[in-house]
Amino acid sequence: MGYKITLIPGDGIGPEVIKATVRILEATGIKFDWESFAAGAEAFEKYKEYIPKELSESIERTRVGLKGPVTTPIGGGFSSINVELRKRFELYANFRPIRNLPHIPTRYPGVDLIVVRENTEGLYSGIEHEVVPGVVESLKIITEKASTRVSQFAFEYARKNKRKKIHSIHKANIMKMSDGLFLRCSRAVSKEYPEITYGEHIVDNTCMQLVMNPYQYDMLLMENFYGDILSDLCAGLVGGLGLVPGANFGDSCAIFEAVHGSAPDIAGKNVANPTAVVRSALLMLGHLGEHAAAAQISNALDAVYNDGSKLTRDVGGSAGTLEFADSVIEAMASQT
Ligand code: NAI
Repeated sequence: MGYKITLIPGDGIGPEVIKATVRILEATGIKFDWESFAAGAEAFEKYKEYIPKELSESIERTRVGLKGPVTTPIGGGFSSINVELRKRFELYANFRPIRNLPHIPTRYPGVDLIVVRENTEGLYSGIEHEVVPGVVESLKIITEKASTRVSQFAFEYARKNKRKKIHSIHKANIMKMSDGLFLRCSRAVSKEYPEITYGEHIVDNTCMQLVMNPYQYDMLLMENFYGDILSDLCAGLVGGLGLVPGANFGDSCAIFEAVHGSAPDIAGKNVANPTAVVRSALLMLGHLGEHAAAAQISNALDAVYNDGSKLTRDVGGSAGTLEFADSVIEAMASQT
């Protein structure tokens, strides 16, 4: 019997990058017992539900998920499956480490940042309505409970992992009540961690500061919407969305998924970079306590990037998704 993991291949490039990742994970020799489910439009065709009951029950049972991206229709249609999963399982902390890989040309070498994004509320509460024809209202919900627990997650992570600084990112000059509450909560939590330097920056300034000098930051803590945008900005600092992993943590389950979406522009072409999902799977291995396997894959990824001959198109190569995965597996074999 292996680890029971709920697998959500997703759509667009999801099934391609998940297939490549599963292949790499299985090459470690660890046994996985995948419980695989569709979500979103594909699930609706089959089960008449966007998140099938079987998928929810599987996550409740396994408590660990590995997920590909799921497309969300723009300007109408069903609401985001990604947001719904995070809310349903109270995966309140979205954790996104931003680090360079060897030999990827970027503006800044040696970036090492962590974005912690509140994952369950803010503008993603999905509360929108038409007040009168031609006027719509979208509510931003910020609660003391959610702001405090995500701040505690960030500070606890910093303490355990010897990170030095946390900046709370906000727009409390304009949204004085909602972002003001978020700031008060992160400030209060920061008092319990005197060894960690605490700072506050306004979100628009933070964008400029990150582009000018990302080294001034260590960990960035913020509400949902700013976290969504700054994560993509930070991905751009280290070579793009094909590289940056993520994890959604709650008190009782965790779902691991890349920062990127379903990339419809390149879906089905075998050109997607699976690195971001592979690195998300490394976070999953760490969560499962499989540190040796995580190190083995991480070293193999470094070797493939150092070699540079089997990279995908987004980072200047011409290898296909599975060809890249196979070269990671070869590099894993040559370590043993
Ligand atoms: P996207 O992240 O899918 O793509 C943005 C750009 O990055 C595209 O040019 C794409 O080709 C490139 N890209 C993304 N991942 C890549 C990879 N692994 N390898 C190489 N290039 C890659 O963002 P977009 O286009 O804004 O969203 C597309 C769909 O994905 C939307 O329906 C959106 O709602 C959904 N989405 C889903 C997420 C999730 O499931 N967690 C997260 C973000 C977006």
